[in-house]
Amino acid sequence: MTALIIDGKKIATEIREELKGEVFKLKHRGIVPGLGVILVGDDPASKSYVTAKEKACEEIGLFSDDNRLSSRTSQPELMAVIARMNRDPKINGILVQLPLPRHLSESDVLLAIDPEKDVDGFNPTNVGRMVVGEKAFLPCTPHGCIQLLLRSQVKIEGAHVVVVGRSNIVGKPLANMLMQKSPYGNATVTICHTRTPDIGSFTRQADIVIAAAGKPNTITADMIREGAVVIDVGVNRIPDPTKKAGFRLVGDVDFEAVKEKASMITPVPGGVGPMTITMLLYNTVESAKRANALV
Ligand code: GUN
Repeated sequence: MTALIIDGKKIATEIREELKGEVFKLKHRGIVPGLGVILVGDDPASKSYVTAKEKACEEIGLFSDDNRLSSRTSQPELMAVIARMNRDPKINGILVQLPLPRHLSESDVLLAIDPEKDVDGFNPTNVGRMVVGEKAFLPCTPHGCIQLLLRSQVKIEGAHVVVVGRSNIVGKPLANMLMQKSPYGNATVTICHTRTPDIGSFTRQADIVIAAAGKPNTITADMIREGAVVIDVGVNRIPDPTKKAGFRLVGDVDFEAVKEKASMITPVPGGVGPMTITMLLYNTVESAKRANALV
């Protein structure tokens, strides 16, 4: 079987068009949803993510308040920027790009963001709301994976989904969302991680495999059941002297071999990547609607 390629760019564009319509309607009511973006330091990957987020805001008509801070920014200085954004009614969403430089406390920063503006869904209040099934901002990458499945008509309900990876950003929330009693859930979920012996013995039982391990070739063809659906969350830079940038992006899945066995698969780039930013835009628009009592 040769897999159907799930086109993340196309699905992301569809959702962004829907959001543009929402933003247009909000503007008629005098509301311009705003996203506050904070980048500390000059990690090249983080810089390119943040630039892409700012560009995406502009494209659908959101206002973005961009704050690029030096790598020597102190914790109190960073907290002051967050406090200002918490107070500012023009800002509906706050995004602090992770990882932060080592001298800064990520947990204190995430805790400081007003849960009503936590469009990343990383504040423990939002995480808790999600886990107990209350209305919450869903974290963008897991929500993007679920949208890719739903909009590709993959049935999540009743499926056995194996998530490989247990990060706070992807694996843990994704596994939780998939098992919720909700339209995007009702799956049977298995989580594998670096201490799981013989990951393949689990993934071979899966209807859907989601790779979020952060390591190339974590999922090889022998680990996939014929006809399974494979979502690759990995974004790994590997050196490639033939490229202008000196590197290329690969996922966690051995794409060329796995695509001959899976029924559907996401590519890297062009799979989950475009969805993450799209769901951030979605949360920001949602937050603006909530702040104005429109939902
Ligand atoms: N770093 C990697 N992924 C993310 C994300 O989704 N949000 C933020 N804020 N930082 C990240």
